[in-house]
Amino acid sequence: MRETVFEAIRTRRSTRSYSAREVSGEDLEMVLEAGRYAPSGGNNQTTHLLVITSSEVKEKIAKLAEKLFSGMEVTPDTYRSMASAILASKKGEYNFHRNAPVLILAANKRTYSNNIADCSCVLENMMIMANAIGLGSCWVNQIKWLNEEPEMLELLYGIGLEEDERVYGGLTLGYADTPDGLPERTPLERKGNPVTFVS
Ligand SMILES: Cc1cc2nc3c(=O)[nH]c(=O)nc-3n(C[C@H](O)[C@H](O)[C@H](O)COP(=O)(O)O)c2cc1C
Repeated sequence: MRETVFEAIRTRRSTRSYSAREVSGEDLEMVLEAGRYAPSGGNNQTTHLLVITSSEVKEKIAKLAEKLFSGMEVTPDTYRSMASAILASKKGEYNFHRNAPVLILAANKRTYSNNIADCSCVLENMMIMANAIGLGSCWVNQIKWLNEEPEMLELLYGIGLEEDERVYGGLTLGYADTPDGLPERTPLERKGNPVTFVS
């Protein structure tokens, strides 16, 4: 088991271009269950997954995100990815979900101290499982950045977000737009993430 698990972890890469091929119900279920089996602080299990397959809803969220980003300004302190989102949105060229067949948003209780940590565990489990079964995925942070925007909240409440929840991360999921449909799996060199042994 350990080689298989490590291989799925080591070769997971972000997929940013997807084919239109639908994800089967069985594969989607497996990815979601991997997420649901993540650990949580105090075994709270309060991560709420919004699994969006409707093109119409994905489009609505993407268009609203583009509108909200286009109203923001870039300053020297703006986080680099956020600056790209703002600049692309101002040109009307921003579609953060990249037409992936599935967009999953991970939400949690707004006042819970482990909300981001628990969502991250769930998202990582899902990305590893996706790779293991031949699906591509990529973390998408845009809705977290907009998670207190009233218009975005209203839209999300309309699709199942609870009043006391906020989105803390998300991922796109689908088959990679590659000749064999498999995601790029060459690991990036590890230059950071240092380890200090203390013995
Ligand atoms: C917290 C977090 C936020 C991220 N946000 C985005 C994002 O908004 N859009 C995106 O395309 N990739 C995003 N990524 C993916 C990273 O860019 C990617 O993991 C990193 O460049 C390493 O590449 P790899 O995943 O292929 O190994 C995010 C990853 C993490 C962990």
